[in-house]
Amino acid sequence: MTQTDEEIHTTVRAAYARVAVTSSSCCAPDPTALGYHPEELADLPDEAVMGLGCGNPVALADIEEGDTVLDLGSGGGIDVFLAARKTGAAGRVIGVDMTPEMLQRAEVNAGRLGLDNVEFRRGLIEELPVADASVDVTISNCVINLAPDKRRVFAEVLRVLRPGGRLVVSDIVTDGPLPESVTDDPAAWASCVAGALPRDEYLDAMRAAGLTDVDVLKQDGSGPLFSITVRAMKPPAPERSV
Ligand SMILES: C[S@@+](CC[C@H](N)C(=O)[O-])C[C@H]1O[C@@H](n2cnc3c(N)ncnc32)[C@H](O)[C@@H]1O
Repeated sequence: MTQTDEEIHTTVRAAYARVAVTSSSCCAPDPTALGYHPEELADLPDEAVMGLGCGNPVALADIEEGDTVLDLGSGGGIDVFLAARKTGAAGRVIGVDMTPEMLQRAEVNAGRLGLDNVEFRRGLIEELPVADASVDVTISNCVINLAPDKRRVFAEVLRVLRPGGRLVVSDIVTDGPLPESVTDDPAAWASCVAGALPRDEYLDAMRAAGLTDVDVLKQDGSGPLFSITVRAMKPPAPERSV
């Protein structure tokens, strides 16, 4: 990989800034193909349903009332809003995204929905603007592949989860290493291709960060690029002996 992490962030941010200001739901892929049910999307603003995900992590995250949920790379806010329905007013959902235009779109959507248990923060998922051990469930939808340093992302997830908390992530992975002509192509980074890791390398990066019980809950598609939804746990705090 000849591009620096900063160059990749700049390319990806510019691409999603354009998407945030130009995309309309009429051109987005059918969300039911990504695992969403039409009924769960019916009350969301069209501007939140951008067709940028590659699964439906909220559906598999077992979010409970009162939970604090964190969405990595929250885009227009679709999964933040679906999670907020599950946490109810007693819980809250924080979306983190590095692209100001995307955050603005998500804020407008939250305003339309009148939600006061959601919050959007600007930041990198490699340097989360979130306190240690403050999150019950971290979700993410088609974002970690865009981060040049996945190990740092998973280390940050481990830091912010409370002991016993979990990560449920949908993401693009590959069936083997990609050629350098692809991994060095800036446009291929922004389109969720160049940064995709081989499936087992992705799961090993989670384990290397200290996440446990890594379990692939769902796989969509096959071939060189496909999507998986994975659950992983932060180990519970050890019991204190008296
Ligand atoms: C493919 S979109 C997915 C958006 C949303 N999760 C969804 O399913 O609709 C990727 C989003 O992640 C954000 N993003 C990409 N890399 C990031 C990083 N390293 N840190 C924070 N946000 C990032 C982009 O700005 C964009 O909003």
